[in-house]
Amino acid sequence: MDLTGRVVLITGASRGIGRACALKMAELGACIAVNYSTNKEKAEEVVAEIKKMGKEACAIQADVTVQNEVEEMVKYTIKYLGSLDILVNNAGITRDTFLLRMNEKDWNIVLNTNLNGVFLVTKAASKYMIKQRYGKIINISSVVGIAANAGQANYAASKAGVIGFSKSIAKEFAPRNIMVNVVVPGFIDTDMTNNLTEQQKAEILKQIPLKRYGKPEDVANVVAFLASKESNYITGQIIHIDGGMNM
Ligand SMILES: NC(=O)c1ccc[n+]([C@@H]2O[C@H](COP(=O)([O-])OP(=O)(O)OC[C@H]3O[C@@H](n4cnc5c(N)ncnc54)[C@H](OP(=O)(O)O)[C@@H]3O)[C@@H](O)[C@H]2O)c1
Repeated sequence: MDLTGRVVLITGASRGIGRACALKMAELGACIAVNYSTNKEKAEEVVAEIKKMGKEACAIQADVTVQNEVEEMVKYTIKYLGSLDILVNNAGITRDTFLLRMNEKDWNIVLNTNLNGVFLVTKAASKYMIKQRYGKIINISSVVGIAANAGQANYAASKAGVIGFSKSIAKEFAPRNIMVNVVVPGFIDTDMTNNLTEQQKAEILKQIPLKRYGKPEDVANVVAFLASKESNYITGQIIHIDGGMNM
């Protein structure tokens, strides 16, 4: 797979899965816009690692829930890196609690970040992709958006929403040569899952037929494939990366 000459924007690329996607796609030749929300230092570390590989990269602060910040981020990517060919909507958060304890703030922030954020960034990026008649959009959902989980009604709703959204725009954008796909990670070892108790982690491990947690690189490898020309006849698909958790 070769991504030479491609420009990739990844939301939430300072850490975890986004960071692994940035490094993998840079390794394959792409230039990377590394978006982050608050963690400037971590985002700049990712940029420095990419530059060490001899590839172009920049860190861009933008909150995916704020429309003008999103529009500026897309403009800056195109101005600084020269184009925008591949978008990975990866930024995401959790605010887990059972429904009766879930307040509106917990609900809104998760839906705003995980679903409205995908809408805002996709809309801003696709205006450009439509004009150039080429683009790849890869959205990160979750096994929880498919199989659900007690204590994650807000997160499950947001991640199920990402799937419906992605299939709809895959149909809208196919005539414009823009492919839209979703990856559905299971349990991946990142900061997001680090706050689970050892008991919760052990319970999850029992549900994974491959008997190991996923690594960010397991997701990045599939995202890179969906970003490459090798996947040009794939659109509107949901690809599970979960060690067999959901069959
Ligand atoms: N880990 C898993 O097991 C798992 C499983 C299924 C799906 N996923 C999904 O995969 C994606 C990445 O997860 P992860 O585990 O890598 O998470 P993570 O390690 O917690 O990293 C989250 C990233 O999102 C960024 N972010 C958060 N809110 C943002 C906002 N409003 N605007 C812009 N960026 C924002 C963070 O930026 P800062 O560093 O600046 O805070 C960070 O780069 C998420 O969508 C998550 O739901 C994860």
